[in-house]
Amino acid sequence: MKAGGNIDVMGPLGNGFDLTCENPILMGGGIGIPPMLFLAKALAEGGLGKKNISVILGYRDEAFLADEFKKYATVYLSSDSGAVGIKGNVIDCANSEDITGDMIYACGPTPMLRAIKQYAYEKDIPAQISMEERMACGIGACLACVCRSTERDDHFGVRNKRVCKDGPVFWAEEVQL
Ligand code: FES
Repeated sequence: MKAGGNIDVMGPLGNGFDLTCENPILMGGGIGIPPMLFLAKALAEGGLGKKNISVILGYRDEAFLADEFKKYATVYLSSDSGAVGIKGNVIDCANSEDITGDMIYACGPTPMLRAIKQYAYEKDIPAQISMEERMACGIGACLACVCRSTERDDHFGVRNKRVCKDGPVFWAEEVQL
């Protein structure tokens, strides 16, 4: 694209997060960090105080957007290298800081989401996970974006959910990671 060019955009598509909570914990890793910022803003502007919202960000070695999150939430940092925040992942951070809440929101790489699903189960906290997949149509027609679901669908009897149409947000127990 050249600067000033036009681009067609379709959206918003798919679902969104259920915002019913009082003490949310937002967990974002890598490319899953930016989507959490808009969620933090929406929760804060929806009436939750900054101190009611915890955000745990996981980096490889260099932090980004952390100051933006601080406008809306109490922010905790972790990194693989230990260069920012605690050395470890978002779960290590949640445990070491003893962060508690009544809802987990997460976006990030699949191994991280898998660990968060397990963590949420052990802590008995409901968790909503925003999934990523490569997409072709974006409207549920091509099945390029399916992820594994725990339940069979009514129509084809397969364990698939379309990230573009049924998601991208799923309850943790809905999807296999
Ligand atoms: S991208 Fe086509 S069904 Fe999701």
